[in-house]
Amino acid sequence: MRKVGIILAGGRSSRLYPTTLGVTKQLLPIYDKPLIYYPLSTLMLAKIQEVLIITAPSELDIFQRLFHNHNLGINLNFTTQSEPKGIAEALLIAEFFYGQRADRTCLILGDNFFYGAGLSQQLWKAVAAKDKAVVFASKVRDPERFGVVEMKPFDNYFHQATSIEEKPKKPKSNYAATGLYFYPSSAYEYASKLEPSPRGELEITDLNKMYLDQNNLFVNKLQRGSAWFDTGTANSMLEASHFVQTVQHQQDILVGSPHEIGYNNGWMEKEDVMHFANKCKNDYGKYLKEMINHGHE
Ligand code: DAU
Repeated sequence: MRKVGIILAGGRSSRLYPTTLGVTKQLLPIYDKPLIYYPLSTLMLAKIQEVLIITAPSELDIFQRLFHNHNLGINLNFTTQSEPKGIAEALLIAEFFYGQRADRTCLILGDNFFYGAGLSQQLWKAVAAKDKAVVFASKVRDPERFGVVEMKPFDNYFHQATSIEEKPKKPKSNYAATGLYFYPSSAYEYASKLEPSPRGELEITDLNKMYLDQNNLFVNKLQRGSAWFDTGTANSMLEASHFVQTVQHQQDILVGSPHEIGYNNGWMEKEDVMHFANKCKNDYGKYLKEMINHGHE
């Protein structure tokens, strides 16, 4: 089974102006590492080794520079989206780039941060769910800001979606569809049939509605205590940074480290981790060195 990941990290990040006038938000730090590390870590936790990062054309070389010499044990590729014409366009770009479809595709937004006990297992279930389209949902206080999904119980792992709406004025539930989606190979063809919405975008919610109409849209609810941040604003970036700082300091672990996950997955060589750790003369590097020398639980 060919499984691929797509990180959509384009857009103008205009909600963070003036900070993002010079650099895109996915390169800004969440505490001690660039935001893009977190969605990449999520894909790696899902055991996906073929990853495409889609950026705005002006940022392509900066992303390539960031990941130069990372040797994460994954096949990391980069391409661009000429204009932010919608989240669903990521599938069309990926198909054009790879030239063939994948059996299972995980699309994650470059500004979405996930963390929590049980997350890895939920990710594996979503990868293994073969022909199902799966969205991850999180309970929120302000659902009108997101795609909102209504659902009913299905089995031990999934709920089945009964409705999904993009930023509804009167939300039918308190569950936001987060920026983490798993699709079967049909998604590429379905995305090619999408028409731009009134705001001129190929909407991911419209793609999800196609699966909903076939009773094939399923929901993985983030478990109690799990964290999800859509880091689109200055406040949410600060909150996410505090969260990472607190968890890392209290538990002496790294949150969202592609190096740690790559090593634990058996994809990274010790020497490559050490080489990278030696470059980071700080707690990040120290942690990686300790992991290699003594192991971490
Ligand atoms: O974060 C979850 C939400 O993401 C979902 O609940 C919504 O259903 C989904 O539409 C999306 O809503 P947003 O309002 O957050 O989407 P936004 O336009 O802000 O784009 C999200 C990220 O994707 C942002 O970092 C920029 C990037 N992006 C967006 C578009 C439309 C691109 O790289 N290219 C694009 O064409």
